[in-house]
Amino acid sequence: MKIVFLIILFSLLQSSCISVDTITRRQSLRDGDVIFSEGKRFAFGFFSLGVSKLRYVGIWYAQIPEQTVVWVANRDRPVNDTSGLINFSSRGNLCVYASVNGTESLWSTNVSDRISEPTLVARLSDLGNLVLLDSVTGRGFWESFDHPTDTFLPFMKLGFTRKDGLDRFLTSWKSPGDPGSGNRTYRIDRRGSPQLILYKGLTPWWRTGSWTGQRWSGVPEMTRGYIFNNSFVSNQDEVSFTYGVTDASVLTRLMVNERGHIQRFTWIARDKRWNEFWSVPKEECDYYTHCGVNGHCDPTSSETFECTCLPGFEPKIPRHWFLRDYSGGCRKKNRASICQQNDGFVKLKRAKIPDTSGTSVDMNITLKECKQSCLRNCSCVAYASAYHESKGGPTGCLTWHGDMLDTRTYLNSGQDFYIRVDAEELERWNRNGSSGKRRVVLILISLIAAVMLLMVLLFCFVKSKRHRRSSTTFAPVPVSFDFEESFKFEKDKAINRELPLFELNTIAAATSNFSSHNKLGAGGFGPVYKGVLPNGMEIAVKRLSKNSGQGMEEFKNEVKLISKLQHRNLVRILGCCVELEEKMLIYEYLPNKSLDYFIFHEEQRAELDWQKRMKIICGIARGILYLHQDSRLRIIHRDLKASNVLLDNEMIPKIADFGMARIFGGNQMEGNTNRVVGTYGYMSPEYAMEGQFSVKSDVYSFGVLILEIITGMKNNAFHEESSTLIGHIWDLWNKGEATKIIDTSMDEDTYEKSEVLKCVHIGLLCVQENASDRPDMSSVVFMLGHNAIDLPSPKHPVFTAGRNRGSENGAWLMGETGNSVNDVTLTGLQGR
Ligand SMILES: *[C@@H]1O[C@H](CO)[C@@H](O)[C@H](O)[C@H]1NC(C)=O
Ligand SMILES: *[C@@H]1O[C@H](CO)[C@@H](O)[C@H](O)[C@H]1NC(C)=O
Ligand SMILES: *[C@@H]1O[C@H](CO)[C@@H](O)[C@H](O)[C@H]1NC(C)=O
Ligand SMILES: *[C@@H]1O[C@H](CO)[C@@H](O)[C@H](O)[C@H]1NC(C)=O
Ligand SMILES: *[C@@H]1O[C@H](CO)[C@@H](O)[C@H](O)[C@H]1NC(C)=O
Ligand SMILES: *[C@@H]1O[C@H](CO)[C@@H](O)[C@H](O)[C@H]1NC(C)=O
Ligand SMILES: *[C@@H]1O[C@H](CO)[C@@H](O)[C@H](O)[C@H]1NC(C)=O
Ligand SMILES: *[C@@H]1O[C@H](CO)[C@@H](O)[C@H](O)[C@H]1NC(C)=O
Repeated sequence: MKIVFLIILFSLLQSSCISVDTITRRQSLRDGDVIFSEGKRFAFGFFSLGVSKLRYVGIWYAQIPEQTVVWVANRDRPVNDTSGLINFSSRGNLCVYASVNGTESLWSTNVSDRISEPTLVARLSDLGNLVLLDSVTGRGFWESFDHPTDTFLPFMKLGFTRKDGLDRFLTSWKSPGDPGSGNRTYRIDRRGSPQLILYKGLTPWWRTGSWTGQRWSGVPEMTRGYIFNNSFVSNQDEVSFTYGVTDASVLTRLMVNERGHIQRFTWIARDKRWNEFWSVPKEECDYYTHCGVNGHCDPTSSETFECTCLPGFEPKIPRHWFLRDYSGGCRKKNRASICQQNDGFVKLKRAKIPDTSGTSVDMNITLKECKQSCLRNCSCVAYASAYHESKGGPTGCLTWHGDMLDTRTYLNSGQDFYIRVDAEELERWNRNGSSGKRRVVLILISLIAAVMLLMVLLFCFVKSKRHRRSSTTFAPVPVSFDFEESFKFEKDKAINRELPLFELNTIAAATSNFSSHNKLGAGGFGPVYKGVLPNGMEIAVKRLSKNSGQGMEEFKNEVKLISKLQHRNLVRILGCCVELEEKMLIYEYLPNKSLDYFIFHEEQRAELDWQKRMKIICGIARGILYLHQDSRLRIIHRDLKASNVLLDNEMIPKIADFGMARIFGGNQMEGNTNRVVGTYGYMSPEYAMEGQFSVKSDVYSFGVLILEIITGMKNNAFHEESSTLIGHIWDLWNKGEATKIIDTSMDEDTYEKSEVLKCVHIGLLCVQENASDRPDMSSVVFMLGHNAIDLPSPKHPVFTAGRNRGSENGAWLMGETGNSVNDVTLTGLQGR
């Protein structure tokens, strides 16, 4: 009952009836013939790469213009010309021959048992799997998914079976033009607790870390998402990892490239290109044993370079260590005291636990028993729970018995890791590093003299240049592994040292002594000035009002947050200035003002065609996504609105004003506050009513923003039949007349209606009443980037709860909304 597509001419004598997704035992495939999977997603046949004449047999995506090969059969033995042939051998193996007269095959499926079934076929499935099977009984003999090349497709498995010795792993190409076996492999390590390791030759290059119950410990990004579901199996029969996509229309692949990166790509149909969705290794700490044996990598470390020794260890060759050559690693400090009566453990938080290939695993005992078992065994140097994120709580016990390789900390993921130390070391750490701090103080004091001298010198040379932190970085200070702790320590110094300090003189000169001509406007907590530094650079200076009572908190908050963030769609901070009573933040200056200046004004609005608006929407979405999940912190902005989106001279949007933002811990999903801050019209109902904020309250504000950008209307200034803008849009959407709301200043011929409607649709999804009905930002970015996907239907959004309810109970302290910079941020007090 198969429909026969005769797209391809099979050149064979004996064939009478051919279906295009299979090769039967009696057929053969010549160069030029191609078979397609049933849904036409994949193709199988001969291909060449670039200008090369060499012919390979493989599988590629059939529907996309860019040649994307996912599997290669004869990767190391190509055919020299177009005389190649694929057919079944008499033993039932699918073979590639160099020519019709060829005798020795270049490649074969190499099934060891003779396959006698006459109904044997090779069929290409829609997942991209070439399967040898009996077309009558369905019994399978071989599949290409068991012999991957460099690409890991959805529903494929990586890993090994214990009985038949099958091991599926990825091997990179030699180069983009040569699919031959390269020297990077990505495979599950059989030893200890299983982990996926990317090797360069035989040397580990990067590792995923072990399975946490939910994800790989070294891949914090791999949370249960909208699109991907991951599963890991480890039992007597097999150890394997696989992933699926919940939306079958999504094209995605993971591959290991010849330069040693693992990359995940998704196909962006709109732009007709592959988008790199994720890639590792990306920072120093990702590289295997970057800090040597028993070394520890902390990318956020502000005291030293990223490397320190684990507690109880010291650099083996201090001189090399402080010159940032970490290859010597660290050794135990006091070897004599190892394994004494009163040993204890120092806890390292948010760690990627060391290489688990040498660990002992016991899945049956609790963490407490694990500690006891480690204490009892003199060779045990550390322990941790095996699956710390499994559904019923942490399970299992891992113990280390030798050098610890490749540990690092994450800012908001990772697990607790316990390192054995002797009594003396334990006391040091128990006093919360206070003796360490005393040492720091001593070192600091002795350095101050030197630093002051240096400062005087500096002052002479670079008057009115910004200050950087001094040379304490070489001091061998013990690092506190606790970020919160170290921040407390930092906070007393008022200013985060990662942020350059400007002198008041410099800023006063740059802004003509804060003259009113230079005033750009007044923000919520004080005026904003334009300035020009002596080097010609334009800056925006946000000056905190001296009598702004709560300002200092917001100021600190903003300094703390924004100095850690860097993204194309976030406004860049250049430094700050704290002198006398003055507190100022210095930003890059953006000439094009804020988004509200454009979209809410008749004339300026006309400058924004749909392409520009779409770019702005996507840019804002990416900026928020970065805040929510891609930066090292999870940040809720809490005050997204048109006036907080600035535009640079290419009209690239930059999110500004982090005075309200909150950092969240890794697992914390929502917060609660008695002080509701935000702007009327952009606040989600659960936040406005109950003070609950989460990433989804930002999604709500974003939804309002999209709708405002499309309509050119202000949500909180919409007057029509006592409905809100959202209510109005919802009514029209339901009547199928949503196109009526599109801003008429855009010429109808300049945009695709369907694309604008998709954005309206996304906007409505974002303003759903129920936070759980709103998509998260990664889904939003995904939906914006893909045209042909089915979006869920929006439900009735909130629009009845608005101004009326707010003012009735008198809880709002309304501010007048005015021009762009004066758009006052509201502060209200809400009882819970
Ligand atoms: C292809 O050409 C190379 C070099 O000319 C030769 O060594 C190799 O045997 C040829 N391969 C086949 C399959 O003919
Ligand atoms: C497949 O091709 C090879 C090489 O041309 C040939 O020796 C073999 O007989 C063919 N097998 C079948 C079943 O036609
Ligand atoms: C293959 O054999 C046929 C005759 O059996 C001959 O005509 C042809 O030239 C041969 N092709 C090659 C590439 O040797
Ligand atoms: C085929 O399998 C045998 C043993 O099963 C192995 O020795 C041989 O290298 C394999 N050949 C290829 C081309 O994979
Ligand atoms: C790995 O392959 C690349 C490119 O083929 C080569 O430059 C490099 O030297 C190889 N490395 C090792 C360790 O073999
Ligand atoms: C992922 O989810 C899809 C749809 O819910 C399901 O069909 C598939 O089996 C799942 N895949 C994995 C690897 O869990
Ligand atoms: C762990 O528990 C399982 C089932 O509870 C049992 O089958 C297994 O033998 C136990 N393993 C050890 C090492 O005690
Ligand atoms: C300590 O643990 C190691 C690794 O599990 C084991 O080989 C050794 O026998 C244990 N020693 C004692 C004294 O239990």
